[in-house]
Amino acid sequence: MLRYFTAGESHGEALVAFLSGLPAGLKVDQAFVDRELWRRQQGYGRGGRMKIERDTAHILSGVRHGITIGSPIAVQLENRDWKNWEESLPVGAGDAARHKQVASPRPGHADLAGALKYNFSEARYVLERASARESAARVAIGAIAKLFLHDLGMEVLSHVITTGSVTVHDHVPWEKVRSLYDRDEVLLNCADSDAEQHMKEEVDKVLKSGDSLGGVFEVVAHNVPPGLGTYAQWDERLDALLAAAVMSLQAVKAVEIGAGVAAAFSAGSAVHDEIGYGGSAFTGFSRAHNNAGGIEGGVSNGEEIRIRGYLKPISTLRRPLQSVDFSSRQPVKAAYERSDVCVVPAAGVAAEAMVALTLAKCALEKFGGDSMTETTRNFKGYLEQLRKY
Ligand SMILES: Cc1cc2nc3c(=O)[nH]c(=O)nc-3n(C[C@H](O)[C@H](O)[C@H](O)COP(=O)(O)O)c2cc1C
Repeated sequence: MLRYFTAGESHGEALVAFLSGLPAGLKVDQAFVDRELWRRQQGYGRGGRMKIERDTAHILSGVRHGITIGSPIAVQLENRDWKNWEESLPVGAGDAARHKQVASPRPGHADLAGALKYNFSEARYVLERASARESAARVAIGAIAKLFLHDLGMEVLSHVITTGSVTVHDHVPWEKVRSLYDRDEVLLNCADSDAEQHMKEEVDKVLKSGDSLGGVFEVVAHNVPPGLGTYAQWDERLDALLAAAVMSLQAVKAVEIGAGVAAAFSAGSAVHDEIGYGGSAFTGFSRAHNNAGGIEGGVSNGEEIRIRGYLKPISTLRRPLQSVDFSSRQPVKAAYERSDVCVVPAAGVAAEAMVALTLAKCALEKFGGDSMTETTRNFKGYLEQLRKY
């Protein structure tokens, strides 16, 4: 069974991620993992921290001589800013005078709910763990999940649909999503270059006004065979697992699979993907379109899986919103800490990691195997069964 966790505070010494249950014999390409981490740090509208972070994955266990050995994988991501926080956020008691308090909770953050829940007098410890810095750890292990999926012919990438008031309405084919991956400079990771320029203007506006933006990304999982996930039990449905995985990311407030939202306002005849017989990647069956986003009844159906994440605007504002001081209870402006103003491309990359981890988990449940030889043999046998169906 594939299991994963992360640990670490935003300004602590390091983030750590654990990935347990991958078969032995998977080649781990360090450069690929680091490029995924780089991709999460890109995008127009990111804050100053991205310049000091430059993440790299330090693999501590579970990989030897470049391949997985079936043991749990632990990955460490050093926080390069730690030297500036060592005294204010020490593991030991330290000097209370150097403690950097978050004196007033920031609306839209976990600050107030977290302080109430854990009975903290202010929000420093809440911010440290609730921060989306944690998503870097997910991207590191998500990259290893992607390498596993690559060996089964599957790829997971994302693109940006909406930033602020600018939206791309046309369908973006896989080839265009794939070509975004090769870019060495990421603006808003949008496949439509005109729209991307307008998106940049939207970000410029909020940069000037001290405000922030949200948006929509779409993750596309390409070449996923039919049969991952099941309708047999509610918590094994692929759509439910993917929705939870993407929703678990910081600032994602809605998730849509395929044409999910528009479908609710349309007639059935305009929505459901009619079935033909003329051949597709895995079987003789074909579809007129893919409004289902590659999942029917909680099972992948062989079409591309398309899942969108809707992000609320970034909560930390340079022109802060109203709040209350934790100790005096007097009205004050919310605390400000260095912040991004728009993170839609980065959130898309983090969502790719979550989709990849989910698909890898479902693939291992279906195909099993303690070594890649065994897993790929089982996988190929299943593909043969589909071809002969
Ligand atoms: C990649 C990424 C980077 C983020 N960076 C920031 C940031 O710099 N400042 C901020 O206020 N929120 C940022 N967020 C969003 C917050 O982490 C998030 O809104 C907050 O923790 C509250 O959680 P919730 O929105 O899921 O309720 C970021 C989100 C993601 C996905």
